[in-house]
Amino acid sequence: MAAAAATTCSSCRRTRPALPAPAAALVVALLAAVLGASAGAGQQLDVGYYSKTCPAAEDIVRNETAAAVRESPDLAAALLRLHYHDCFVQGCDASVLLDSTPGNTAEKDAMPNGSLRGFDLVARVKDHLETACPATVSCADILALMARDAVALSKGPSWPVALGRRDGRTSAAATCAQLPPLRGDINLLLQAFAAKGLDARDLVVLSGAHTLGKAHCPSYADRLYPSSADPALDARYVDRLRMRCNAGDSNSTSELDPGSCVTFDTSYYRHVARRRGLLRSDAYLMDHRFTRAYVLQAASGRYDGHFFHDFAVSMAKMASIGVLTGDQGEIRTKCNVVN
Ligand code: HEM
Repeated sequence: MAAAAATTCSSCRRTRPALPAPAAALVVALLAAVLGASAGAGQQLDVGYYSKTCPAAEDIVRNETAAAVRESPDLAAALLRLHYHDCFVQGCDASVLLDSTPGNTAEKDAMPNGSLRGFDLVARVKDHLETACPATVSCADILALMARDAVALSKGPSWPVALGRRDGRTSAAATCAQLPPLRGDINLLLQAFAAKGLDARDLVVLSGAHTLGKAHCPSYADRLYPSSADPALDARYVDRLRMRCNAGDSNSTSELDPGSCVTFDTSYYRHVARRRGLLRSDAYLMDHRFTRAYVLQAASGRYDGHFFHDFAVSMAKMASIGVLTGDQGEIRTKCNVVN
């Protein structure tokens, strides 16, 4: 099924404004500023990084991703989340893809990463790239490109991805503590983002990624049970969720953006504004002046173009966290093992 055919929400039937040209230019300018700051100590990332060494790289990634997402639209969510979990833990170095080894539990096998998906697809894309241009395109760049393409294929924005990341050689489960906490409060979320050079706008904008995908019951069951449900969650919605998620059930899932979970749009914000954000972290966005105002604005449905633009900018910032460049790290030939 084509991703387009999977659209279910009424807002998605409108013609979505493409990123206007001046906004696209702004994205590129901001990207340059972000990358200049973050990679200042070493070499910088570059949008045309593979233009000579592997000119087909972006096409290969896009075609493979498109074929996979056409077949299973929900894979777009998996790819977007993989890139986020990569970047927040030890920087965007594809450490999230490495397998555990005897004596070392890798990030992949840490608790918060238990439901990450899409590893096989990334491996397939890497194999194609190794055939076309051996030992050239890093797994970290593949993740950044696939996340961008996944969003675009889900009817979201697209943006230029600066490339030239290299792959890390280590991955440790303990470092996953750097991921923003699901439970706590808005201040803990803001702190976790600030620790990565991201601000309140990035938090509320990137949380918009929850317009795609699903959460497993244990991620939100504590808002429904045992006796007192989370007052921040709409009571009627609690009743509906309880029918899908029994305490102790670890397999069932609920859509993060009900009715529109394979379409990238602003309906997630409408759910959050109505106290129907599925995760605690979604609900916390209503507890801070700026993030709340952003949610309400995006929920109005009149700022879809702004959100798309903001998302592209924040993704570019996230994609530059702690990158390895130059002679740091390596270009893995298989994404799940170091060379
Ligand atoms: C603000 C802090 C965040 C927290 C606490 C958080 C937490 C979570 C949790 C608990 C799930 C459900 C996992 C499961 O039960 O299987 C989830 C799903 C997801 N998250 Fe987040 N997340 C955050 C931010 C982000 C960001 C910044 C992105 C991307 C830019 C993102 C993308 C996604 C996607 C796409 C899914 C659905 C995955 C799928 O369907 O396989 N999240 N998140």
